[in-house]
Amino acid sequence: MNHPILVKHAERLKSVLIADAASSRISESTYSVAGWSINTARHKIDYDAEIALRRFGETINLEEAVRKLFHGEVVNHSEKRPALHWALRCKNPAFSVAQKVKASLEAPFAFAEAIRDGKFRNANGKRFDSIIHIGIGGSDLGPRLLYDSFYKERDKRYNLRFCANLDPLDFELAVDELNPETTLVIGVSKSFRTEETRYNLNQARRWLEFALDDVWSRNVALVTSNRIMAEQWLGDSHGQIFNIPESVGGRYSIWSAGSLSCFISLGTDLINEIMLGAEAIDHHVKHEPIISNVAMKLALLDYWNSSVLKYPMRAELAYSRRLRLLPNFLQQLEMESNGKDTQTDGTRIVEPTTPAIWGGEGTLGQHSYHQWLHQSRHTIPTEIILALDSEGDEEGQIGLISNALAQAEVLEEGRTLEQIQQDDLNSSIEISKQKVLYGQRPSTFLITKDFNPRRFGSLIALLEHRTYLAGRLWGINSFDQWGVEQGKILARKLKSVVQGKNETGNHITQSITEEFEQFE
Ligand code: F6P
Repeated sequence: MNHPILVKHAERLKSVLIADAASSRISESTYSVAGWSINTARHKIDYDAEIALRRFGETINLEEAVRKLFHGEVVNHSEKRPALHWALRCKNPAFSVAQKVKASLEAPFAFAEAIRDGKFRNANGKRFDSIIHIGIGGSDLGPRLLYDSFYKERDKRYNLRFCANLDPLDFELAVDELNPETTLVIGVSKSFRTEETRYNLNQARRWLEFALDDVWSRNVALVTSNRIMAEQWLGDSHGQIFNIPESVGGRYSIWSAGSLSCFISLGTDLINEIMLGAEAIDHHVKHEPIISNVAMKLALLDYWNSSVLKYPMRAELAYSRRLRLLPNFLQQLEMESNGKDTQTDGTRIVEPTTPAIWGGEGTLGQHSYHQWLHQSRHTIPTEIILALDSEGDEEGQIGLISNALAQAEVLEEGRTLEQIQQDDLNSSIEISKQKVLYGQRPSTFLITKDFNPRRFGSLIALLEHRTYLAGRLWGINSFDQWGVEQGKILARKLKSVVQGKNETGNHITQSITEEFEQFE
């Protein structure tokens, strides 16, 4: 059940305009942290409601949740584990488990350097010139976003491709025109059980074996928590195996050896900068009280928008070519972490929890789904992330800034019939009415003037903490994902139905699978 006081505030604010609500609390709406300026003024919440929301955060004890995270206490109760992803980016972790987590980066960093220096070569002494990163979910989205964000800075000696999909075309395209002899295949799977990754790794193995015979495994590096299964997969062959610590969840693993392909193609200096940015946010989240803690603020707004005001989605609008994959990354981070309806004590949650996240690259979306954001009957809060390159072309940057600002303003203010009639004297009443924008669409605005690896690190760490803290507000375990497991089990069963070997599918599945008889 929702906090009744918050519901009362929401009722009271129903007919209040965002601008009027915001004017009572403007001083508490701008934050500056780790190179980012964050403005939360455009939300349908006023001073009193904000105080009530903060009190709610205090009763849930968000500060204690942060303390538990950074003290390595068990926060993933179903799997009985702490969540120690933050230790990977901590310069000097204070306790031994966290130090071990941090130490898991030494081997992959050294390996990346050995590849870059040409000390580690293929079995015939040739340098690697291509990398295929095979992995899915958290073992794909983070490294893919990281590489895309710093594509401009990539080491052009390497051609890096990502392969995640079970569709055979994904692997076919990943290896297209690559020379197996000089290609390093990096398989990332925390569990080493994931069907897509094992399928693509098997494809890669056949591709390498065909060209390299019994020295194929020199071209393979595996990154996993499940060393035993990785060794079984290698069989009698030797290969490099790097560790993802158990206490680092898949969707929080961008900082781990899972990003080995990026360590090689972007260089470890750039990766270290990213870690520094993330550490600055860890420091902020750890030490700031709830009143000035940005991660807590964003989490509380998520709760307010989704569970109290019942907005079903949030659009993530990245005004940055570098961050165009951020919405995909956040879909997993937030929806797999908090897309749940039951609390850790087994209580069923009545109100909606995390919203659906979708979005894309500004200004591209303005010529596509923004129409719906402005004029559909749904009110969708947006998060506008404006990440400027300090060396980017001025004219383009000015355009980007103005468009991002304009979207936030129009989404909030809209445009009344009176304004339209005043401005467009020739517009008929029917047309004028169609031009009305009712506005009142909330948004958060994040801006950095000099996007760089540190800013990337601080942004991702901030969004991770916000996800964990929002999970605490809902009473959810943000580190497991039971919902997706049943589909995997059933897919395994249905393989034999699809192949016509048995008839265990339900009647609808059965009628669909009749079409696949040719697979027999
Ligand atoms: O989709 C479920 C999931 O377990 C994700 O949580 C995870 O990131 C992804 O599959 C890949 O898992 P793994 O790294 O174990 O292959």
